[in-house]
Amino acid sequence: MDNQARLIINGGKRLEGEICVQGSKNSALPLLSASVLVHGESTFHNCPKLSDIDASCRILACLGCKCKRSGDTVTVDAGQISEYEIPDCLMRRMRGSVIFLGSVLGRTGRCRLSFPGGCEIGSRPIDLHLSALRQMGAVITEEHGYLDCETPAGLHGAKITLSFSSVGATENILLAAVLANGVTEIHNAAREPEIVDLADCLNKFGAKISGAGESTIYIEGVQRLEPNEHTVIPDRIVAGTYMCAAAITRGELILTHCEPSHMNGFIPVLEQMGVRVYPYGGGKIYLNSRKRLAAPSTVRTMPYPGFPTDVQAPFTALCSTAEGTSVFVETIFENRFRHVSELVRLGASVKVEGNVCVIEGVKKLSGAKLCASELRGGAALVVAGLAAEGVTEITGVNYIERGYETIENELRSIGADIKKVQLV
Ligand code: UD1
Repeated sequence: MDNQARLIINGGKRLEGEICVQGSKNSALPLLSASVLVHGESTFHNCPKLSDIDASCRILACLGCKCKRSGDTVTVDAGQISEYEIPDCLMRRMRGSVIFLGSVLGRTGRCRLSFPGGCEIGSRPIDLHLSALRQMGAVITEEHGYLDCETPAGLHGAKITLSFSSVGATENILLAAVLANGVTEIHNAAREPEIVDLADCLNKFGAKISGAGESTIYIEGVQRLEPNEHTVIPDRIVAGTYMCAAAITRGELILTHCEPSHMNGFIPVLEQMGVRVYPYGGGKIYLNSRKRLAAPSTVRTMPYPGFPTDVQAPFTALCSTAEGTSVFVETIFENRFRHVSELVRLGASVKVEGNVCVIEGVKKLSGAKLCASELRGGAALVVAGLAAEGVTEITGVNYIERGYETIENELRSIGADIKKVQLV
């Protein structure tokens, strides 16, 4: 992981050009976990080159899988699974590793992992995951910071109602239910496109899942999954971040390889601010933003199809120079405004109280030294730095690289003056 680097941005350049959107990290991670359920080789195309994906491949290797990458394609051979424990260092490295719980349990009947602690954006408990797996027959012991999960009588179908439509819990239940005995129902399931992608992929591999993308998902357990291949959906959050980057510089952008229908939660907010957005066929979006933007009406982060919490930070950066007062209410994570104090260094006028962030748009930002402390908040600093006059230096690049494939190259290709340098 690159924690000795910084991004240097000479801001104020209008962005103009075309970016091909990378595959979705949040889809690729559960898909790699799904490969554990397959007796043989799974092939995933459009797999982004990110440190979090590397961490997943390392987990797969620890479990006994053979994992190799060729360009954007990752192949996992899970013919032989020899382990059921995920090493503590990998759990710590990526909190999302908990997504392996359902698949390892489903395949081997046992899984041991260290308890995922809090992270940069909030406490992120996994009580919903554990309660669902217990309803499916798992016996889970929590001791000395470890979770030991066993299935003395195998996993069985269950009728599970989530008190919150958690993305990770829905994914873990899906993964555990695919090879379980009988039918599992998930009520109040998450409806994110990444859930649909996971279900589509599992069905290709031989699973029997219906209702993904709706609030009730039905999974009829099957005996085994067979080798197949799948293409990861485009990353809607990365697409949204680049749209904010172009918009804040009053630029013009064509995004290719994206899925406009996945972005209905935030495109209307851009339009309301005065950005012109035209989705057109073949997975493309054209955007232009010629004048100073206006603050949108209050934005509340919500589960899909609402405004995604993951683009909240880039949008707050965008609103820092919009005319008027913008208000963001963060309803998903409790600690997702950590980037705000850094935006203030650039001259933004932003106040946070609890889960509400109020931004008084300023006419201009000016470059400063900033520190990224989490993934999307880090991307927001890049967005703001692109608009700031003078030089902005961002450390904590390793956080940004968890989710953005060579962000500096993408932005440079559309006219940004940005480079990555190593600290000496
Ligand atoms: C996933 C995404 C993340 C995104 C989030 C919400 C991945 C790898 N990450 O995270 O980028 O921001 O969805 O769209 O796909 N909760 C509980 N108990 C649980 C599970 C969740 O209280 O057992 C709470 C969380 O603390 C949080 C909220 O529910 O406040 C949403 O979490 P969840 O939907 O599970 O998000 P993740 O799957 O962790």
